[in-house]
Amino acid sequence: MKKILFVASEAVPFIKTGGLADVVGSLPKCFDKENYDVRVMIPKYLCIKEKFLEKLEFVDQFYMDYLGQSRYVGILQYVHDGITFYFIDNESYFWGSKPYGDQYHDLEKFSFFCQAALSALPVIGWQPDVVHCHDWQIGLIPVYLKGRFGEGEFFKDMKSVMTIHNLKFQGVWDVNTIKRFSGLGDEYFTSDKLEAYNNGNMLKGGLVYADSITTVSNTYAEEIKTQFYGEGLDGLMRARGNDLIGIVNGIDYEDFNPGTNENLAAPYTAENFRKEKVKNKKALQKELGLPVDEKKFTIGVVSRLTDQKGFDLIAHVMEEICEDDVQLIVLGTGEEKYENLFRHYEWKYPARVSAQMKYSEPLSHRIYAGCDAFLMPSLFEPCGLSQLMALRYGTLPIVRETGGLKDTVEAFNEYEGTGTGFSFTNYNAHEMLDTIRYAKSVYYEKKREWNKIVDRAMTVDYSWSVSAKKYQDLYDGLTGAGEE
Ligand code: ADP
Ligand code: GLC
Repeated sequence: MKKILFVASEAVPFIKTGGLADVVGSLPKCFDKENYDVRVMIPKYLCIKEKFLEKLEFVDQFYMDYLGQSRYVGILQYVHDGITFYFIDNESYFWGSKPYGDQYHDLEKFSFFCQAALSALPVIGWQPDVVHCHDWQIGLIPVYLKGRFGEGEFFKDMKSVMTIHNLKFQGVWDVNTIKRFSGLGDEYFTSDKLEAYNNGNMLKGGLVYADSITTVSNTYAEEIKTQFYGEGLDGLMRARGNDLIGIVNGIDYEDFNPGTNENLAAPYTAENFRKEKVKNKKALQKELGLPVDEKKFTIGVVSRLTDQKGFDLIAHVMEEICEDDVQLIVLGTGEEKYENLFRHYEWKYPARVSAQMKYSEPLSHRIYAGCDAFLMPSLFEPCGLSQLMALRYGTLPIVRETGGLKDTVEAFNEYEGTGTGFSFTNYNAHEMLDTIRYAKSVYYEKKREWNKIVDRAMTVDYSWSVSAKKYQDLYDGLTGAGEE
């Protein structure tokens, strides 16, 4: 039995701000349980959903020296869907209404978390073969495993995998600050280690010291070796190219099942969507106060409202998108300028635009189900889960060909009768607009073709089954295949 520990800053169903939580919470369930014991460790934030917080069981506690003080570390656990989740408790760090606050305090918080997470393992008495670290928050763990922790008997054979979910966020501050928070000596802060552009960089530490690096799609794995997508670390990504692989994300096919999801007005399947799916559109229009019109081309957006997701393209041609024959439904929170943009257009065109500037999982399911198309014109997209959710619900993605969007959405080819959505290449607002208009023309003028695209979209398989095997192979490669 191989023992794998995921360490991350968020995981569904406990705490989520984005796709990272979906991955960390849903992937562990999909490993071959006979041969892989996969557990997860996250902070015990006070903002974890109440119904879970009260159920966490106390495991043990200890004190750890950190920044010149002896600090409390509590360990709690909870078994969800057969997976053991560990929670690291220290209320002076993990308080607040959100998992992340200002960057400086987050750096201290997650440096503490990395040290506490490793220190907790001998206390729990569970010795993973591989520690699988997700994003910059966990970047110090591979460094510690090759350094001061790795010197001890308990840790010396432990391997690490570093997964990049988003290279844009690296955990950067001046060298002295990162030195202090991490407790690492001067020798670590050179340009081949944790120093980058005169700053300390926690993700870079993980990328230099991990035994293996993955990211969440093949295309992104290639893109980050280039200057445009490399966020300053493209040289390192090229240098570690042999240890870097792309493994595309999946989604939880039980949670995202249009046939059984309890949030939907009318469940439907790949067999009966032609009759049933539209009932969800009408219910959604009614819920949001839009004119109920089952024929109207309805475009959905569910997203963090940031530049990454291509909102400046949408802003540029918003007027042209909001034509009389379209309804646009946006669910999201983030940058104020985008919230204001969508609110303004909802005010200007109340029959065409619905701006839901909030976070709501139930509503997100109703949008994935009730719309005809799903717009995601990202500037960059390591993988993207929203387009996979849209495909699963037979709502055709309109995407820019980057990262995981390129790898998971196949553009409609009307001559060959192939494809699962619509896409464009350049980061250009009018290319996007042309693609939206093309999709709209297929919807209005070639409804039978549209429905065939939906047929194909609903049958592609982006569950975790294929990708979980690739992670298993990776763990086997690191630890010696077949060995017990
Ligand atoms: P990212 O992680 O970059 O934000 P992904 O597409 O990988 O993008 O994952 C986003 C996840 O967050 C999806 O599960 C999506 O449904 C969800 N999500 C984003 N914004 C909202 C919102 N306002 N309400 C509900 N769910 C949201
Ligand atoms: C990040 C990326 C997104 C990816 C998610 C899960 O948030 O922005 O593209 O799907 O991580 O890997």
